[in-house]
This record gives sequence, structure tokens and C-alpha cells, in this order.
Amino acid sequence: MTQIDILEGLNQMALDVIGLAGFGYSFDALAPSGKNNPLRSALNEILNPAAPSSRLALIQASIPFFQWVPNQRKRKVLVARQSMLQIGAELLAQKKAALLTASENEGKGGIPSNEIDGSERDLLTLLIKANIANDLPENQRLSDDEVIAQIPTFIIAGHETSASAVTWCLFALSINVNIQDKLRKELRAVSTETPTMDELMALPYLDCVLRETLRLYPPVATSARQAMKDDVIPLNKPYVDTQGNISDSIQIRAGDHIIIPIAAINQMKEIWGDDAEEFRPERWDSPPSAATGIPGVWGNVLSFLGGPRACIGYRFGLVEFKALVFTLVRAFEFELAVPKEQVTKKSLVVVKPVIIGRGEKGNQMPMFIRPARG
Ligand code: HEM
Repeated sequence: MTQIDILEGLNQMALDVIGLAGFGYSFDALAPSGKNNPLRSALNEILNPAAPSSRLALIQASIPFFQWVPNQRKRKVLVARQSMLQIGAELLAQKKAALLTASENEGKGGIPSNEIDGSERDLLTLLIKANIANDLPENQRLSDDEVIAQIPTFIIAGHETSASAVTWCLFALSINVNIQDKLRKELRAVSTETPTMDELMALPYLDCVLRETLRLYPPVATSARQAMKDDVIPLNKPYVDTQGNISDSIQIRAGDHIIIPIAAINQMKEIWGDDAEEFRPERWDSPPSAATGIPGVWGNVLSFLGGPRACIGYRFGLVEFKALVFTLVRAFEFELAVPKEQVTKKSLVVVKPVIIGRGEKGNQMPMFIRPARG
């Protein structure tokens, strides 16, 4: 039996995943040799758990929406962002050259999309392929700078969230041993250690565990928007204001900030019942009809938000979650290494665990891990 901080391991795992799947770039975050990787060092500098405010600053530098939150370490963050952009520029140049060479069409004034060769399937390659095609309308083409600017956004938005989701899932499984055992039984009945995406998606209890994790532990617990114009938000239920007036809508003025309470909506007793705060994957066998009114882009929850700026990577995130949980829970048993009451949530855009009394060590989730029996 070994004790490890699963949060750190899962963060590195998720960084490797987004590096390879997003850009065909190897952070080697899980490997000791990865310590010398310049991009990983830049990220470590600002995602250092002992300095929680820095994480926010990186997100602010990458996603303009988050800039309303005060930031403290802008300079370091900008240096790291610069490093991401520089590596992004090198990747873009290499991939573009490889695609044009593979297509043997360089200098012929553009290539129809169906004639562009190249076997790599990472997001950046796909974006470049679409972007250099000569049948793409000019007003839809991105400049090189615009393509490169996507890289920090995807690295940050696509790895801390996934690591947080799997960390909280393993936490929930460690304090609900029956659920962990039931899930492992389903996973061990699969005849292969490397299932296809379709095989993963067909596992019913894994799906319930995923949905319940994202409902109860949404990695992004709140978000916010700023109104661009005056508006009126209609309400399901009227409310009584401080003057005793009854209203069935909320007046919004241009410039107002609106907080979207993702976690609170996911756990409303009016929707989910009295056990809304319990981890009970079985509820997804017959979800309450009231949940269909939640305007999320996925799964009757608000965890990936909704509307035109919902999470762009949610399908990827779902498969990544299932692949990681499949592999880990099939092979290992997880037991929390501290009393569950000592685990608390700290939210700095992404919700991470902190151990009460060990705050100086930053975010962590200590677990005992042993090979699964039977
Ligand atoms: C469990 C995993 C994930 C969760 C819970 C999650 C959640 C979210 C949420 C709530 C937002 C909206 C933030 C806001 O505007 O306030 C968002 C945005 C975004 N996510 Fe995810 N995400 C996850 C995984 C991923 C992955 C794997 C990727 C990339 C492959 C990704 C890429 C993005 C991007 C690029 C945005 C910004 C979209 C935009 O502003 O238009 N996410 N995510």
C-alpha cells in the first residue's frame, strides 16, 4: 500500500493528455525527464499549489473573461504565457510545413480541404488543416496569431478541470466503498484493458458515476458574465424583494456582473430531492424531470455551462474522465489518507481540495492506493 497525492498525479496526467491530444506536444509531465520541459516549468511556476492566487492570474492572462477578478502575479504569468505562445509558434510552423509538404501542393495557391494529407489528428493539426484549405471562406480564416492564441486557453481550460473532476470522483469513491466496489465490478467485467471509446461509453454505472461526480463536484463551481445591454431575466418562481414587492423577473442594467452559481444549481433540493447533497450515482437511472429545465449544454447539469460560450471541450472531457477512471479503478483500490471531514474545497476558478490544518502545503488529496483484489 502506498500513499500518494492523487491531485498532483492527475494534474500531470491531464497535462500530458491535453499536450498530446491538443497539440501533438509531449509535456512528459508524468516522467521524471519532463522536469526539464520548458513549458511544464513555466506552468509549474504559476500553477504552484503553494501560491494559489497565481492560478487565477494565468487564467486571466489566457481567457479575457476572467480578468475582472483581482490578480497578484501578473508579471510571472505573462512570462509563462509568452513561453506558451513561443512554443505554440514553433509547433504551428512545424505542423504547417509538414502538412504542406505532405500534400505536395506548396506554392500552388492553396489546397482544397479534401486534398490535404497528414495523419496527425491533434486539435492544432485539425485547425491548421481547416485553416489552410482554399475552400474556406476568407472571413472564417484565422491568422497565425489567432491560431497560436488558442494554445494557452486550451492548455489551461483543458487540464485543471479534468484533473479536478477525476480527483473528486476518487474522493467520492474512497468515502463510499460500496459504490467503488460496484463500479470496479462493472469495469473488471470488460474483457480488455484498453477499451474503445464506444466500449467506454456503453458502461452504464461508469456513466452514472461520471454524471454524479460532475453534478456534486463541478470543477468550475461558479462563473460570471457582464451584461452588454439592459435586459430582463424572467424567473420560474416569483420572489418578494426587501420592500415587500412581488417580482417575476430581474432587471439587468448594462455593465452589471451576473454570478452563475453552477454548483448550487446542480445541488438544488427543489430539483434533486432531499438527498441532493449526497453522492448517489443510482439517481441517474431515473433523473428527476425537473432537471430537464436546467439550461446546461450537457447532462441536465450546469457543469459545462450553457449557451454559445459553454465548454467547447466537453465531449473530450467526458471521454477523458471515463478513460482515466476506467484504468485507475479497475487496477487499484483508493482509500482516503485523512479523515473525510478534513478535506475541504478551495475554488480559484477550478475547485481543488485542501486539507484543513495543512493549508500551507497547498492543494492536495492524499490517498492510500493498493492493487485491486480479486
Ligand atoms: C470535466 C472537465 C471540464 C469541465 C467541468 C469544464 C468546464 C468548463 C466551463 C464551466 C467553461 C465555461 C467557463 C466560463 O465561460 O465561465 C469552460 C470553458 C472552456 N473549456 Fe472546459 N471544461 C472541462 C474540460 C475541458 C477540456 C478537456 C477542454 C479542451 C479540450 C476544455 C476547453 C474549454 C475551453 C477552450 C473553454 C472556453 C470556451 C469559450 O470561452 O468559448 N474544457 N469549460
